[in-house]
Amino acid sequence: MSMDTEVIRRQFPFLTARGSPCAYLDSAATAQKPQSVIDAMRQQEEMHTANVHRGMYPLAEEATAIYEAARQSVQSFLGAQAPQEIIFTKNCTEAVNLVAKSWGKANLRKGDAVVLSPLEHHSAIVPWMQLAEHSEITLAWVNMDASCAYTVESLRTTLDTVQAKLVCITGQSNVVGVRPPLKESIEVAHNAGALVLVDAAQLCVHHPVNVRELGCDFLAFSGHKLYGPTGIGVLYGRRELLEGMSPFLTGGSMIREVTRKGFSSAELPQKFEAGTPPITQAVGLAAAIKWLGQYPWGEIEAHERTLIETTFAGLQSIPRLRILGSDDPGAISGCMSFVVEGVHPHDLTAILGDQGFCLRGGHHCAQPLHEHLGVPASTRISFGMYNTIAEVQAFLPALEKAIHLLSKS
Ligand code: ALA
Repeated sequence: MSMDTEVIRRQFPFLTARGSPCAYLDSAATAQKPQSVIDAMRQQEEMHTANVHRGMYPLAEEATAIYEAARQSVQSFLGAQAPQEIIFTKNCTEAVNLVAKSWGKANLRKGDAVVLSPLEHHSAIVPWMQLAEHSEITLAWVNMDASCAYTVESLRTTLDTVQAKLVCITGQSNVVGVRPPLKESIEVAHNAGALVLVDAAQLCVHHPVNVRELGCDFLAFSGHKLYGPTGIGVLYGRRELLEGMSPFLTGGSMIREVTRKGFSSAELPQKFEAGTPPITQAVGLAAAIKWLGQYPWGEIEAHERTLIETTFAGLQSIPRLRILGSDDPGAISGCMSFVVEGVHPHDLTAILGDQGFCLRGGHHCAQPLHEHLGVPASTRISFGMYNTIAEVQAFLPALEKAIHLLSKS
């Protein structure tokens, strides 16, 4: 189906049914949900509610089949080899924590390094920091310049200086929108003997991701940024790695047997899905993948490129405003952030919010990146498929007016 933004917008109740008009420019934080996702979840709750992997009665078997079909949708979305490589978690953060607390704890030894870059979201940094507090591993940082370009050369330099066991790399920055060269970085990391964990939370909604083509070892993302529900995330892991890892959370459903003496774990993927899993959310995520899959990636990317380029040009013409990161709009995807001399992002986003423009102000859970850029906070504009040039054209003068107002106060 070809992509017509007006047709797309009509599928989002948030954009059509709310009383007051609103330009939602915060999809990097969470995306709005199309009606088909909401309907699929409602249908699941109304007609198919039963716990999964437990009951033998037909309704329970049906619920299990629906839940496992959702896993297969994610498998095919990511191009993974087997459904066992797809673990449902609470969100992307929990997926990274699973790797740190299971694989990291068992495999990282004194002197080993986890390689990060300032582009990373806190969820891809703090689990490793916490691990480092209780072990003698080090964190090594890939150097970047002010344009925030992640280069393979810089990664190679870092890898040459440490005993790297893991490279944690974002697919797309949630602040400045740049994309590291993933495939090449993964190759370089592997050649240095390190595994690679990709944080695809921002990337997979704007660009196709195929884990086998990339060759990554682990990849994490959240459902709610992909037009799906909150409460579900995904960890992809290469099967042999996941098979060798111990459960991160323990309890019901993840065991083969429990005796007074101890327990043995279930097979993949149940081993990593302790307790009742996010069943309805998995159904919603599968519906979101189906919904997104109707539209050609080329058209999605072309539409979002126009939004980025129009915004970039408009922001560039505003006095005292500095766009963070790259000065090439072609290097930016999904979102961009800026600072305005003498104006705090919280004040700016509060004023714009009152006028119906929803943007995020703050450090966007990326304080090391803001430190790298020499600012404590920024204002971020981020896009989804439903955003329009008309929204950008309305936003730019509203922003100028807000800056003017705040500069006088
Ligand atoms: N990680 C989300 C953001 O960037 C919440 O806003």
